[in-house]
Amino acid sequence: MGGLMLILSLCLWAGSMFVVQGEDPYIFFTWNVTYGTISPLGVPQQGILINGQFPGPNINSTSNNNIVVNVFNNLDEPFLLTWNGVQQRKNSWQDGVLGTNCPVPPGKNYTYHFQVKDQIGSYIYYPVIAMHKAAGGFGGLRINSRLLIPVPYADPADDYTILAGDWFSKGHTSLKKILDSGRNLGRCDGVHINGKVAKGDGKDQPLFTMESGKTYKYRICNVGIKTSLNIRFQGHPMKLVEMEGSHTVQNVYESLDVHVGQCYSVLVTANQEPKDYYVVASTRFTRQMVTATGIIRYTNGKGPASPELPPAPVGWAWSLNQFRTFRWNLTASAARPNPQGSYHYGSINITRTIKLSNTAGKVDGKLRYAINGVSYVDPPTPLKLAEYYNVADKVFKYDNIADDPPAKISEITLEPIVLNLTHRTFIEIIFENRETAIQSWHLSGYSFFAVAIETGTWTPEKRKNYNLLDAVSRHTIQVFPNSWAAILLTFDNCGMWNIRSEIWDRHYLGQQLYVSVLSPARSLRDEYNKPDNSLLCGIVESMPKPPPYSI
Ligand SMILES: *[C@@H]1O[C@H](CO)[C@@H](O)[C@H](O)[C@H]1NC(C)=O
Ligand SMILES: *[C@@H]1O[C@H](CO)[C@@H](O)[C@H](O)[C@H]1NC(C)=O
Ligand SMILES: *[C@@H]1O[C@H](CO)[C@@H](O)[C@H](O)[C@H]1NC(C)=O
Ligand SMILES: *[C@@H]1O[C@H](CO)[C@@H](O)[C@H](O)[C@H]1NC(C)=O
Ligand SMILES: *[C@@H]1O[C@H](CO)[C@@H](O)[C@H](O)[C@H]1NC(C)=O
Ligand SMILES: *[C@@H]1O[C@H](CO)[C@@H](O)[C@H](O)[C@H]1NC(C)=O
Repeated sequence: MGGLMLILSLCLWAGSMFVVQGEDPYIFFTWNVTYGTISPLGVPQQGILINGQFPGPNINSTSNNNIVVNVFNNLDEPFLLTWNGVQQRKNSWQDGVLGTNCPVPPGKNYTYHFQVKDQIGSYIYYPVIAMHKAAGGFGGLRINSRLLIPVPYADPADDYTILAGDWFSKGHTSLKKILDSGRNLGRCDGVHINGKVAKGDGKDQPLFTMESGKTYKYRICNVGIKTSLNIRFQGHPMKLVEMEGSHTVQNVYESLDVHVGQCYSVLVTANQEPKDYYVVASTRFTRQMVTATGIIRYTNGKGPASPELPPAPVGWAWSLNQFRTFRWNLTASAARPNPQGSYHYGSINITRTIKLSNTAGKVDGKLRYAINGVSYVDPPTPLKLAEYYNVADKVFKYDNIADDPPAKISEITLEPIVLNLTHRTFIEIIFENRETAIQSWHLSGYSFFAVAIETGTWTPEKRKNYNLLDAVSRHTIQVFPNSWAAILLTFDNCGMWNIRSEIWDRHYLGQQLYVSVLSPARSLRDEYNKPDNSLLCGIVESMPKPPPYSI
């Protein structure tokens, strides 16, 4: 705890520039974002590259590292990256969403500067504007445990990242046009694994290699647009060890459902006949199953992978039951952003219950997706900047959706949505999926206890079914059709935080909102100052800079 106090006191005198925190190491990246040719489904098309790469470079960091990424936008349109699951303690300035950051104009750059404070685990970054994510610009982000903190499994022989996702070959500009004109994206054209698919003609290069007898860590994330994936290795079960920043109870799975925006770390032991094997990603809950494979090669292996793929599970119930097997390992030590709030969350009184119900409908004849009857639109001024410059009232209204929406929502309005949450209160959020498609929700700035997913309608009596002991602390949760999911957490991280559907057409057409957690005294103890290099846009662009937060 001495370290924590030291960091706290350093923050107090750190002034208005980047917050320099003790001796925690810095890692620097310069990223050049460009268009380029990619072939995720085997056919060349335009994609978004970072330093010439698709997927983008992997960020390999250790808990508490300071990460500095200077992003040069060499596209012909505004661009912005978010760091999905990085908690940005006191620092929503670096979250990289349109509620906190102005987009980087074409030909310009912006330097992100954040600390991966008290976190471990497997994460992804991706572009948030327009439909850029459908063209690339995404990549993996690892936060390793510091050496002095024990990890509840032996060091793997190597550490691999699998980024799998559905793919639409139309390109991001056409996809945006389809959504802007009020039409539906329809079915994906394929699935890729790390930007490729194996052809199965015996000439495929392996994605990864394994040595007989050794155990490997695979970080598996769904970087897709809208489709849940089932991931499995031919002949090799997976031992689940980590999920979105938490060490889990180490159950063994033949396959895992990974919903959009989610990441899981598993251990795989190379204990089979040495040859090639497929890793398989196939779509879930789609009328037609689409499958992609990649080669995993034994270094001393002889022979191709068997064409016989392990079968995918069928139906929703399987996925729901799998969710219920996920448990947090309460005895594993690990960096946690809020150790006080981590334990005994089941005995904290709930101060506010917010039900967020997603619906779809038409506005002026065009498809929109809504939460509690409001479909989110980004104002030209980022919400956080409007708050900082004291002009929030000119940009949005707080609490403009009801905490308990009516059972039937018929009308949809278009507005920004911002909930005013009181700092340090313990809140229950119910995600109610009133649609017939799967949802995947993400909350920035926090991890939450994913205490329940059930079919039907939530009522307060359902609380007795919550896992109040060892629910996994994570940052995304899926909600099956006509089902609900409940999360619990303490809102102890000041800032403007995005709750978004990770289903990207829904996100683009309005299923997102922000929660504002304000430091009542504008205190540096609770929140960092706006960085000096923040880009400005909207009504704050020409305004005088307000006085900074102080002690
Ligand atoms: C980024 O890439 C483009 C296209 O390859 C190139 O013209 C430009 O010089 C690069 N910029 C930087 C900063 O490397
Ligand atoms: C990632 O970082 C860890 C810890 O600093 C280091 O041990 C490992 O070799 C790095 N891996 C890669 C692929 O750079
Ligand atoms: C753009 O990059 C330069 C270095 O090339 C850096 O000095 C400057 O701060 C960056 N701009 C922003 C807004 O971060
Ligand atoms: C939980 O972590 C502890 C401590 O590292 C480890 O010994 C134990 O095997 C783990 N338990 C399970 C069920 O995975
Ligand atoms: C929680 O609420 C119960 C019942 O309202 C009350 O008895 C108890 O003191 C509260 N606990 C805390 C820690 O506030
Ligand atoms: C937010 O809620 C708090 C009470 O919890 C209240 O004091 C404050 O005025 C509200 N802020 C706004 C901007 O509505």
